[in-house]
Amino acid sequence: MKKFACRCLRMSLLMVAALNPLVYAAPDPALEKQIDELLANMSLTEKIGQTQLRDWGTYAEKDMPAIKQAVRDGKIGGFLNVTMSSVNKYAFEELQRIAVEESPKKIPLIFGQDVIHGYKTIFPIPLGQAASWNADIVKQGARIAAEEATTDGIRWTFAPMIDIARDPRWGRIAESLGEDPYLASLLGVAMTEGFQTEDPTDPTAMAASAKHFVGYGATEGGRDYNTAYVPEGLLRDVYLRPFKANVDAGLMTIMSSYNTLNDIPATANKFTLKKILRDEWKFDGFVVSDWNAVMEMIPHGFAADAKHAAELAANGGIDFEMHTDTFEKYLPELIKEGKFSEADLNTAVRNMLRIKLRLGLWDNPYPRGNREQVLLNEKFLAAAETAAEESFVLLKNDKKILPLNKKQTIAVIGPLADAPFEQLGTWIYDGEKKDTRTFLPALKKYLGNDKNIIVAPGVSYSRDKSTAGFAAAVAAAKKADVILYVGGEESVLSGEGHSRGDIRLPGVQQELIAQLAATGKPLVQVIMAGRTIQLDQTLEQSTALLMAWHPGTMGGPALVDVLYGEVSPVGRLPLTWPIAVGQIPYYYNHMATGRPATDKNYTRIDKIEQGVFQHQPGNSSNLLDYGHKPQFPFGYGLTYTTFTYDNLQISAKEIGLGKTLTASAVIKNTGKVAATEVVQLYVQDIIGDVTRPVRELKNFQRVFLKPGESQKVTFTLHTDELAFHNQAMQLVTEPGQFNLWIAPNAEEGLQTSFMVK
Ligand code: NOJ
Repeated sequence: MKKFACRCLRMSLLMVAALNPLVYAAPDPALEKQIDELLANMSLTEKIGQTQLRDWGTYAEKDMPAIKQAVRDGKIGGFLNVTMSSVNKYAFEELQRIAVEESPKKIPLIFGQDVIHGYKTIFPIPLGQAASWNADIVKQGARIAAEEATTDGIRWTFAPMIDIARDPRWGRIAESLGEDPYLASLLGVAMTEGFQTEDPTDPTAMAASAKHFVGYGATEGGRDYNTAYVPEGLLRDVYLRPFKANVDAGLMTIMSSYNTLNDIPATANKFTLKKILRDEWKFDGFVVSDWNAVMEMIPHGFAADAKHAAELAANGGIDFEMHTDTFEKYLPELIKEGKFSEADLNTAVRNMLRIKLRLGLWDNPYPRGNREQVLLNEKFLAAAETAAEESFVLLKNDKKILPLNKKQTIAVIGPLADAPFEQLGTWIYDGEKKDTRTFLPALKKYLGNDKNIIVAPGVSYSRDKSTAGFAAAVAAAKKADVILYVGGEESVLSGEGHSRGDIRLPGVQQELIAQLAATGKPLVQVIMAGRTIQLDQTLEQSTALLMAWHPGTMGGPALVDVLYGEVSPVGRLPLTWPIAVGQIPYYYNHMATGRPATDKNYTRIDKIEQGVFQHQPGNSSNLLDYGHKPQFPFGYGLTYTTFTYDNLQISAKEIGLGKTLTASAVIKNTGKVAATEVVQLYVQDIIGDVTRPVRELKNFQRVFLKPGESQKVTFTLHTDELAFHNQAMQLVTEPGQFNLWIAPNAEEGLQTSFMVK
């Protein structure tokens, strides 16, 4: 076996070096003593009560007395979805009062909710936030969401969602931070820090819950709630990495996932929930099951009945059972029968109490109120607008059609130019369309009047199959200088349970774009969607293309600012954009193959002569119809200027294990507009004990450059950052040759190499 350096702790810190790990999560003897004292006096019923998380949103009027009595009896540890109630919305205060005044040990309830990308002020969907490549933006978004949600008493959120997602068919890719473990770790930690703050006893702080543990993003075919097969090395190097980074940063809670992982439901997966999370990582927060997931082990064919499901989940590492009540019903029997131990129950309760204490719920149990001043205030809206601007990715800009100018007559076409609900995106339990600012009114405000705007949506919603509006849209296009098509997907087409097998623009949008393009007028296509879209001929037909994701409350004004050049686009793709669904899964950091495709070593399908010998068109790792490249690579994004990369230098051609390399390049703004470039550092470990990815993102820097300005951008790279899990599942950096790129995206850049000795 090769010589290697084995080290573990340092790596995850290095991976998120830009951020300070939270320190409150260190073991605290005084807090543990408080837990001991509480636990010593709790009855079995009260202990089990702490493991029960109930969904307030599912209750009817008739259930209220019984459920309040259960709180009074200490049988419930917390609620989710209190704002989702159809009968007693905002019951936080009332429920908490019963818990802290009338329950036996007066232990406060914890209230959780899916505050995923904003509470009332909705930020871009997480995938859009990831496209900002800006940890400050992500952290600020989470901070604002927490300030808003805590006014109502929600002190726990089910975010960040840090499932590595490589399949745009999967609807939940919208909630993810993309395909890259480095980027998702960095931004996931930023989100956690924004929610939790450095002092989670702060009444504006929320406990974060990293989800979904683990492998959910790898479900087969992009089908939700499905099967995932992830070999251990890939699990540790890719899927677990963002979770490890968050745990090291003081993450308070984790949610297990719906999928099976290597044939074991994640809800009862002792390998991930106990061995990795507790034994290896020393996570001391609580683990919540996903909604109904304990019972779903029955249809999975893993549990025979509810009692068996409780046994498996409780023994598997679940502390807090979401929605179902199998722990309440069956743990007493299971303990009597010796199938679950009271010692393990005590551990789960300790985990629960530890987080409730760290949140300071005894001192601040109630909603902090002040809704009128806090919710949707101007500062929050401005931050949401900036976040939306930074999330937009400019993918094409022929003839420099963008930025637009105020004198042009614009035909505003497409279903999403004025769709307040749709632009908010998935998971907006509390955001409201009445608060949304859409593009069309924002444009009218910006231009000061509507004399240069012709509106003709063409279709009324994204899946509309009627062509009745086409003629008016084409007529509008003919009268305009520029066609602005704002289309994509309604928000319900992505998110939980909403996967698609066909990821093209739904409805008749492609046909509409074709007719608009046939007018010969320049066409700017803006896509709002929760995933990458198979563009087909619409790419060719569009003069410019801007990916706007689902941009949230302030998406409209943000779009105006970017389209009219008030700000330059800065977003970069946080995932690989495929040409077609047939390429999926497609991600930049794939393993090196035995026959890498090049532009020359195979023949495209239409060029293959009929009847030729089998091997004559060439054999390499490609698709005859789509080739070997994506539509747009990971990290890609244009702006209103151009940048050059020059003078790549590294501090040494050889470095020893445990040492740091410095790499730099000079980036110059060669255009006429000030803009930010996202300068990316990639590495390839050429030979490994196991095969290694063709490139891996190791770092990036955002540099703002005025026209003509240049800057030397310098990265440091410690050999620990080159570590991976070898065949023996040791985290190692192996000596050998590495390629290094400083690059504008995962396919280009300046390249050199170095040796680790
Ligand atoms: C199910 C989803 O998978 C999870 O992400 C969410 O947090 C819970 N439901 C609670 O709503």
